[in-house]
Amino acid sequence: MERIRLFDKTFRTFIPNEDIEKAIDDVAGKINADFKGCTDIPVLLCVLNGSIMFTAELMKRLEFNCELVSIKLTSYSGTESTGHVRQAMGLTADITGRRVIIVEDIVDSGNTILELKKILEGKGASATFVCTMLMKPDSCRADVHPEYIAMEIPNDFIVGFGLDYNEIGRNLKDIYVLDQEN
Ligand code: IMP
Ligand code: MG
Repeated sequence: MERIRLFDKTFRTFIPNEDIEKAIDDVAGKINADFKGCTDIPVLLCVLNGSIMFTAELMKRLEFNCELVSIKLTSYSGTESTGHVRQAMGLTADITGRRVIIVEDIVDSGNTILELKKILEGKGASATFVCTMLMKPDSCRADVHPEYIAMEIPNDFIVGFGLDYNEIGRNLKDIYVLDQEN
């Protein structure tokens, strides 16, 4: 097991890259089964910054035409959610009448997803789906149910594969969890 230091905190290996890739293969297979052969061009919505690596890996595996659109939201400060979701950059394209697959790095409280669905409905999306790499079922509100989940994890703070601790750690190819001794 590898330990790394980010600012004042220590993290240890939690999910190795090969397990992440395998989980992405599986979730992409489910999306392909549902969308392959579709005649519309669904929107793949990358929720910046955390979702950038997952979106890239997921996209490579999709076998239907889709359009990549981004939006930037922020809610975390340090290792805690502020509970307030802020739109730091709006949608990069018009999504009126389109089916939108929201691609998230992680669903924690579920507040970001609810806020996103509200934004997308307001912009005229015809339907929304949620695909998340990670899900913390024990901390998620009861009214949020992502259609596609690659991996479920306990309610611990993690970094890597796009996820950050105060903006660092996103480049790590494995996922790390905050060490108990912090
Ligand atoms: P939610 O609104 O509480 O569901 O949180 C969603 C956002 O918070 C995610 O898209 C992440 O950017 C961030 N987040 C939640 N949990 C973690 C974590 O364990 N590590 C890093 N970022 C996290
Ligand atoms: Mg995110």
